[in-house]
Amino acid sequence: LSLLRRVDSYLGEYLSQKSSTKGSFPDSSFSRSSSSSSLAAEEGLFEQQEPLASSKSVMDKILRRRSLQLRDQQCAWQESPDGKKMLKFRRNLPAYKEKDRLLTAISQNQVVIISGETGCGKTTQIPQFILESEIESVRGAVCSILCTQPRRISAMSVSERVASERGEKLGESVGFKVRLEGMKGRDTRLLFCTTGILLRRLLVDRNLKGVTHVIVDEIHERGMNEDFLLIVLKDLLPRRPELKLILMSATLDAELFSSYFGGATIINIPGFTYPVRTHFLEYVLEMTGYRLTPYNQIDDYGQEKLWKMSKQAPRKRKSQIASAVEDTLKAANFNEYSSHTRESLTCWNPDCIGFNLIEYLLCYICEKERPGAVLVFMTGWDDINSLKDKLLANPILGDPFRVLLLTCHGSMASSEQRLIFDEPESGVRKIVLATNIAETSITINDVVFVIDCGKAKETSYDALNNTSCLLPSWISKVSAQQRRGRAGRVQPGECYHLYPRCVYDAFAEYQLPEILRTPLQSLCLQIKSLRLGSISEFLSRALQSPELLAVQNAIEYLKIIGALDRNEDLTVLGKYLAMLPMEPKLGKMLILGAIFNCLEPVLTIVAGLSVRDPFLAPMDKKDLAEAAKSQFSRDYSDHLALVRAFEGWKVAERDLAGYEYCWKNFLSAQSLKAVDSLRKEFCSLLKDTGLVDCNTSIYNGWGHDEHLVRAVICYGLYPGISSVVNNGRSFSLKTMEDGQVLLYSNSVNARESEIPYPWLVFNEKIKVNSVFLRDSTAISDSVLLLFGGSILQGDIDGHLKMMGGYLEFFMNPSVADLYQCLRRELDELIQNK
Ligand code: CDP
Ligand code: MG
Repeated sequence: LSLLRRVDSYLGEYLSQKSSTKGSFPDSSFSRSSSSSSLAAEEGLFEQQEPLASSKSVMDKILRRRSLQLRDQQCAWQESPDGKKMLKFRRNLPAYKEKDRLLTAISQNQVVIISGETGCGKTTQIPQFILESEIESVRGAVCSILCTQPRRISAMSVSERVASERGEKLGESVGFKVRLEGMKGRDTRLLFCTTGILLRRLLVDRNLKGVTHVIVDEIHERGMNEDFLLIVLKDLLPRRPELKLILMSATLDAELFSSYFGGATIINIPGFTYPVRTHFLEYVLEMTGYRLTPYNQIDDYGQEKLWKMSKQAPRKRKSQIASAVEDTLKAANFNEYSSHTRESLTCWNPDCIGFNLIEYLLCYICEKERPGAVLVFMTGWDDINSLKDKLLANPILGDPFRVLLLTCHGSMASSEQRLIFDEPESGVRKIVLATNIAETSITINDVVFVIDCGKAKETSYDALNNTSCLLPSWISKVSAQQRRGRAGRVQPGECYHLYPRCVYDAFAEYQLPEILRTPLQSLCLQIKSLRLGSISEFLSRALQSPELLAVQNAIEYLKIIGALDRNEDLTVLGKYLAMLPMEPKLGKMLILGAIFNCLEPVLTIVAGLSVRDPFLAPMDKKDLAEAAKSQFSRDYSDHLALVRAFEGWKVAERDLAGYEYCWKNFLSAQSLKAVDSLRKEFCSLLKDTGLVDCNTSIYNGWGHDEHLVRAVICYGLYPGISSVVNNGRSFSLKTMEDGQVLLYSNSVNARESEIPYPWLVFNEKIKVNSVFLRDSTAISDSVLLLFGGSILQGDIDGHLKMMGGYLEFFMNPSVADLYQCLRRELDELIQNK
C-alpha cells in the first residue's frame, strides 16, 4: 500500500505537470508536438518549399530560376582549377567510366541494381551523377535524392566528401541526416541519411512526397533495416510510378535483388585491384617463432579449450610448425563444424594470442616492410581500445614519429574520422584499427597491409529457445575476401589472416541476413507504427522471410509487455516504444523512469545494459573482482550496484581520480565513459518523444528511492522473472519455462546465502549446460503485481491471466478484487491526464 501511495503521488504529479504542457502524448494519428523540435525538423526533410505566390506559373518560374542558379554554380566550379583537379580524380574512378550507361538505365527503369567493388565510386559518384544530370537538365530545384547508409559514420563522411567534390560546404546542395545530428539547408537536393532516418520519415510521409530518387546503399550487408525498407519501397513503387529506386551492392549476388523487384536491370561496374598475397595463421606463426600448445581451462560456461602461446620453445622448422598447428586443430575438433571450439581459437583478450600476434606483426611491418598503411580488422569498439592501449605501450608502435595510430568504428567522433583519410607525413606509417565498417562502407586509400582477426560482432537468435546474444563470431568467406581486397587498392598488397586455412575453409559462403538471426520485436513494432497491416503477412513478403516461430515469439512478447493489444494493434505504450530506437525492454524502463521522475538512475541502468559490462572479471582475479563488485550492493540488485559504481566514478572523475577508482574497483573506464555518453543520447531521445520537457533537468528526482527504481526495473524486464525459494543456508531459483536456473557467478546475488524477496527479475538468460541468469534484481510481490506487464494498458483480464501463472495467490478472489480496484484507479488517473 505504501508503494501504491507513492506510485499514485508520482503519477499524479507527473500527469498534472504534463497536462500543463498540452499535447505531448502522441494521438492516434501519430502527429507529434511542436516542442519536439528536431523530429519536427526531420519531418520537414525534403518538403518542397511552398512559394508564397499561389499561382502555378509563378512557382514554376521560381523553381526554374533556382535551377538555373544551381547550373551556373556547377559550371563555375567545374571550370575552376580546383574543380578541374577534382574532376580528374573522379574521372579515374571505375564508376565514372560507366556514367552514361548508368544514367540511361536509371532514366529508362524504375528500379536499377548496381554492383561494383568497394572503392569503385558507387557511394560518392552515383548520387552525384544523378544530381549533376538533373541540374544540367534544369530540374535541379525540383529533384530530391535520398541515399541511405547503414551506419551514421558513413552517411556523415560520404556527404562531406561529396560536398567537397562539388566545391561546396556541407549543407548546401549536399547534406546529411543521422539520429540527433544533421546538416541540411534550404537548397539541399542530395541527402545522405541512415536507413533508420528514412524509415522514420516514412512514419509521417508514407508516399515520400517530393522525393524523386531513393538510393539504398550497401544492400549486400543484408541488415534488418535495409531488408525491411525494401519491402516498404516495393509496396510504394506502384503508388509513385515516377519515383526511381537504385540499389547498390559491393558484391555480385545481385540476382536475388533483381528477381525480388521483378527482374530489375543489373549493372556491374568492372573494377580493378592489384594482387594481394594471402597468409594464414600457419605462416604467421612460423614468422613469429611461437609455438602452439593445447591448454585446458575451465570457465563459467563449462569446459572450453583455449590455446596458449608459449614463447620458450626454440624456433621450429616449417614442417614441424605446420604439423603442430594441425595437431592442435585436431585436438580442438577443428575439422568438425563445431562453433564452440571454433569460437575459442583466437581469444580477443589483451593477454591472449590474438593481441600478441597483432603487436608482433605490426612491429614486423614497421621495421621490415615497404611503405604503406596498415588496416587491422577487429571485432568491436572495446577490442580496438584495448589493443590501442597495448600498442601505445610498445616502443616502436607508440612512437608518434614513426607511427600514426588511428581507430575507425561506428561510434567515433567526426573530427577523428577525417584523420583516417589523410596521408601521414613521410616516414610515418599509418595504422588504422577498424571494425568491419572498413570492410565495404569506408575506403582508406593508401592501405597496403591488412590484418584480419576473422571475426565480427554478430547477433544470433535461436527462436526455439527464444534466446539471443551479441558475440564475436567468425565472418563469412565473402567478408574475408572483402577484407583482403582492401590491401590491393594502390599497389600489390599483403593480407594476414589470423586463423588457419582450414578454419577459412569452414566459413559460411555468405553471412545470414540479419532478419534471420535477430529477435524481431523492434521490427514488429516498426511494422505496426508504420501501419503496414498484419505483421506475419508483411514479413512473409521479405527478400528472405524469417521463421514463423520467430515472428510469433516477437508478437507474443510485445503483447506480454503491453506494446500490442489482443488484436495486435499498438497501444499508447507501443507508440512510444516505436519512437525509441532501442530494445523495447530498455525503452519501457526509460518511459517509466520519465513518468516517475527517477531518470537519473534509470538512464544509468539502461545505458549500462547497452554497453559491455563495466564490471570486469579477469580470470585470475575473479574473487577480488567479485568482492569489489559486492561493495556496491546493498539491496540484492546488480542494476543498482551499477548505478552506485557509476555515481562513484562520476565523483572520482571530478577529482581526476577516475582511473584509480576503476583500477581499484575492477571497473572498465571505457564502458563507464560509454555509459556516460549514452545517457546523454537517451536523454535527448526522450526529449524528442515529448516525455521529458526540453527545459526540465533530469537530475532532480532520484532521492535514492530504490523501491521505485526497482519497480521501474521490473516494469522493463518482465516477463524475465524467476521465483526465489530460500531454504536455510542457500536459495534456489526457478523460471516457468526452464525449471531450475542458476546465477551467473559475477552477479551480486550469487554471493548471498539468502534473498529476502520472493522474485528476481533478470536481464538475460544464457543456456549452456544449465540456464544462467545475468544481471538480476530482487523484487517483492507488490512490485510484481503492479509493474509486471503493463500499467499503461487497460487489459486487466488478460493481464491477470498472465500473472496467474506466476502468482498463485491470484486464485484468491479478494486479492484479485483488490488488484482490479488498484488498476481501475491507475487507469482513471491515466485517462484524466
Ligand atoms: O562506394 P564505393 O565503395 O564504390 O566507393 P566510394 O565510397 O564512392 O569511394 C570512391 C573513391 O573516393 C575511393 O576510392 C576514395 O579514393 C575516394 N574517397 C575519398 O577520398 N574520401 C572519402 N571520404 C570517400 C571516398
Ligand atoms: Mg560505398
